[in-house]
Amino acid sequence: MTQKEKDKMSFKKRNINCGEIRPENDGKDVVVNGWVASRRDLGGLIFFDIRDRWGITQVVIEPENTPDLAEKVKHIRSEYVIWASGKVRLRESPNKNMPTGLVEIVADEFEVISKAELPPFEITDDSDVSEELKLRYRYLDLRRHSLQKKFIVRNKLTQVVHKYFTDNDFLEIETPILMKSTPEGARDFLVPSRINKGKFYALPQSPQIFKQILMVSGFDKYVQITKCFRDEDLRSDRQPEFTQIDLEMSFIEQDDVINVTEAFVKQAWAEVLGIEMKDKFLQITYHEAMERFGSDKPDMRFDMEIVKLNEIIKNSEFKVFNDVINSNGTVACINAKGCASYSRKNLDDLTDFAKKYGAKGLAWIKLENGEVKSPIAKFMTEAELNGIIEAASAKDGDLILISSDSWKRSLTILGALRIEIAKREGIIAKVKDKFAFLWVVDFPLFEWDESDKRYYSMHHPFTSPHEDDIALLDTDPGAVRSRGYDIVCNGYELGGGSIRIHNIELQEMMFRHLGISEEEVENKFGFLIKAFKYGVPPHGGVALGLDRMTMLMTGTDNIRDVIAFPKTTSGLSLMDGSPSIVDNEQLAQLGLNLKVNHD
Ligand code: AMO
Ligand code: AMP
Repeated sequence: MTQKEKDKMSFKKRNINCGEIRPENDGKDVVVNGWVASRRDLGGLIFFDIRDRWGITQVVIEPENTPDLAEKVKHIRSEYVIWASGKVRLRESPNKNMPTGLVEIVADEFEVISKAELPPFEITDDSDVSEELKLRYRYLDLRRHSLQKKFIVRNKLTQVVHKYFTDNDFLEIETPILMKSTPEGARDFLVPSRINKGKFYALPQSPQIFKQILMVSGFDKYVQITKCFRDEDLRSDRQPEFTQIDLEMSFIEQDDVINVTEAFVKQAWAEVLGIEMKDKFLQITYHEAMERFGSDKPDMRFDMEIVKLNEIIKNSEFKVFNDVINSNGTVACINAKGCASYSRKNLDDLTDFAKKYGAKGLAWIKLENGEVKSPIAKFMTEAELNGIIEAASAKDGDLILISSDSWKRSLTILGALRIEIAKREGIIAKVKDKFAFLWVVDFPLFEWDESDKRYYSMHHPFTSPHEDDIALLDTDPGAVRSRGYDIVCNGYELGGGSIRIHNIELQEMMFRHLGISEEEVENKFGFLIKAFKYGVPPHGGVALGLDRMTMLMTGTDNIRDVIAFPKTTSGLSLMDGSPSIVDNEQLAQLGLNLKVNHD
């Protein structure tokens, strides 16, 4: 290899990061390494910016003093990797918007380390291109500082996790990624076994069973930052693989888990964002959350609370309301303040929006210019209409939206409308920097599934029923409260957990209520029940969504912004092209035959 070739392979190593050069470095000889962000040729002077993880610095070439560099710089393009050396000086025309905007490097030498093809989009924080293209070239998208900052926040958060839980006597223990399925309500991702043909591992939906078994083993306090996998419909806050901060504790009660978790969240917000939260987080029951906000994860940064109207219209002759009242349903409303000016089209849009949540219709009352306008006015007495207006505390200019359906559906519709109106009216934009944390407690133990005609666990089958409600298990299972709790912030479920059942008879009874046969119990959870037979402590825990916490901390509502290599909503990884076809030989080794044909 010639010296020239060797020189090409080596590079001059930086002695400072691009983003860290400041006026105090004036006169210093520096070497920087990074990517060319842009080049401007002003004739007399040529500038280019160089970018690294820490930021961007301006490099200037003076053709009068360094004519060879002025010639060489013509050949560099955006995204080339280079090293440059020179002296730092104060800029003549400073840019106060950049941390390095007061200084520049006068180049005395630079060299291209590697060339770059023309990128498919400009790598700037305001580049407006489709998400699909950005995901295909994720490595380029990840060069943007606005995205990199989110990963710096995520890293700070994981550091707090290790520190806080170690300080509080928790042990970090890893649980298997290849395991038997855990029941969490979503479908499993399966992994075929080559050695045991025809058998499958499942990727964990959560380490739930393993962390409970760790309690049987006496570890007492466990925590883990762990990947979980769920084959479910994806949304902007859901990914098929995501990360939990998962913990479990022994010899504790609900308040202990809540206190430990709350103190962790407060420490995380203080250390990562510098936000001190002194007050205890609010705790409201599931029932109250539904009745006031129409959601089990209410956004409490603004009011617009739901008002129940059953009492006011209990004798109404309007058939829609009457039928619902007679079948024990709920008629309720929200007051969209200042929205009386909504057009017919706006109201039709809102009705269509409500229909997505199962509404059969949406009644409204407008108070506009001293008049009361409503398509249901003709079916109501004046006293009823006035009663509704008064209950909703509506004033001239307001719009009342009324839903009438079963308890849960009616409230869910209004809960969704409440958020929709808050978005449309800029209410959420106004509170975007606020954090409203709360605990939702006393969830129902079971949820009735109308299509399957059976109960399902609202959380999971290991969740303990409320001790006061055990008698209801046989008579009114739907009314049994659980010892489950969720931590909620700004309309997101950040985490969920529960006190577990540590009594085998009660656990078996629970499986019976869920219609899980003895055989299925034995097959799926036999090992857990068996472990419990050897001395199980009272225990409970919680899992927090690390991705969702990072979303909140970085102010994004797209989970893909906080996961380095995310999947699309159809579960595809556009960069590496997974999932992908595998060849027949690989299938044969696994003893698999495909029924789908890819040709
Ligand atoms: P749960 O199912 O409520 O509880 O999950 C806990 C938290 O994990 C996050 N999360 C998700 N984040 C991104 N994408 C997803 N698909 C996704 N699914 C869940 C949420 C959620 O609150 N084993 C129990 C915990 C326990 O009982 O201790 C469990 O997994 O933030
Ligand atoms: P209808 O009698 O179906 O013409 O409905 C009269 C009004 O009641 C219309 O404004 C409907 O949108 C509204 N409406 C119908 N069903 C419901 C419902 N379940 N809840 C609220 N409003 C409804």
